[in-house]
Amino acid sequence: MYARLIGTGSYLPGTPVSNQDLAARGIDTNDEWIVTRTGIRSRHLANPGTTSSELGLVAAQRALEMAGISAADLDLIVVATSTPDFIFPSTACLIQAKLGNKGAAAFDVQAVCAGFTYALGIAEKFIRSGSHKRALVIGAEVFSRILDWNDRGTCVLFGDGAGAVILEASEKPGILATAMHADGSQNGILNVPGQICGGQVTGDPFLRMDGPAVFKFAVRVLADIADEVCHIAGIQTGDVDWLIPHQANIRIIEATGKKLGVDRNKVIVTVDRHGNTSAASVPLALDEAVRDGRIQRGQKVLVEGVGGGFTWGAALLEF
Ligand code: UT7
Repeated sequence: MYARLIGTGSYLPGTPVSNQDLAARGIDTNDEWIVTRTGIRSRHLANPGTTSSELGLVAAQRALEMAGISAADLDLIVVATSTPDFIFPSTACLIQAKLGNKGAAAFDVQAVCAGFTYALGIAEKFIRSGSHKRALVIGAEVFSRILDWNDRGTCVLFGDGAGAVILEASEKPGILATAMHADGSQNGILNVPGQICGGQVTGDPFLRMDGPAVFKFAVRVLADIADEVCHIAGIQTGDVDWLIPHQANIRIIEATGKKLGVDRNKVIVTVDRHGNTSAASVPLALDEAVRDGRIQRGQKVLVEGVGGGFTWGAALLEF
C-alpha cells in the first residue's frame, strides 16, 4: 500500500512585493544585494489580519478540486505551520471547520521550514499503516507577522503563502521513501525566542537568524537527506526527474543540486518570486510544477526541507 498524491493546490496572497517596493518602504536595502545574495526578486505579503488558516484553506480547496474529492472524504488533516492563527486550537482544526469536514483527525506539525516534509512523512505513515485512507497535508505560513522590519538581514528574505496536497491509499506507487531528522543543539541559529506569559509577550517575538551558519548547515543536510531517501528507494540522486528543495536562497538550492549531481534544469525554483515561505515553500513549488505540466505522472520527485530546530526532512515520490 502506498500513499499516492492525487491533488495539489496553492495560494499566494495579494500582489507581488518587489525588492524595490521594500526599499521604497524605507528598508535600508537594494534590489542588487537581495538578488545576488538570495535570488529573491519579489514575495507576497498577506494583509494584516489574514491568517495561515485562510491561506491554507484556499490551497486545500484547490487540491481537493484537482483530486476530485470532497472535504467529507478526508480522514486526516495535517498542517505544517510555525505561524498558526492561535496558540490553540490548531490551524488544522480551524481549516477542518472551514472546509466543513467532521471527524477527520486534525493536528499541526511544528518543524519550521522542514514542516511540510515532516507532515508529508507523518501522513504517509498513517496511510501505509492502513488506519487512514485520505489525507490533506498543508504548509501554510504568514511569516511577515514574525519579521522584524528593522532587521534588513532577515525581513527581505521571507514571504507568505500556502500549499497543499491530497494523499490517498493506493496500490499504485506514490511516496517511495521519507526521512526526517533534527538537531536541537542548533536551536540558537534560527529562532523566534518569544512567548506569551501572563498576557504579555516575553522574550523576543521576532525571527532571528545567523544567516551564514544556517546556510552551511542547510547545504550539508539537504544533500545528506536526499542521498538517504534515494538510498532507501534504491535509486541514484541523479535519477530523480525533479528536485524540489526548500526555497530559501538560490545559492543554497544551486549548491545542493550541484552536490547531488542533479541537472540544473531538473530543479524547481520559485524563490525568485515567492521568497522563503517556510513550510509553504515546497508544496507551493510542487503545485506550480504540477499545474504547468513539468511534473508528469510516473516521474520521480524528490522534495526536501530544512529549518529552525534544526530540522530537516525529505520524501521521494513517484507522481
Ligand atoms: O529557511 C531556512 C532559513 N534561512 C536560510 O536558509 C537562509 C540562510 N542564509 C542565507 O541565505 C544568507 O546567509 C543570507 C542571505 C541571510 C545572508 O547572505 P550572506 O552572504 O551570508 O551575507 P552576510 O549576512 O554575511 O551579510 C553581508 C553584508 C553585511 O554588511 P557588512 O557587514 O559586510 O558591511 C550586511 O549588513 O550584507 C549586509 N546586508 C544587507 N545589505 C543590503 C544584510 N542584509 C542586507 C540587505 N540589504 N537586506
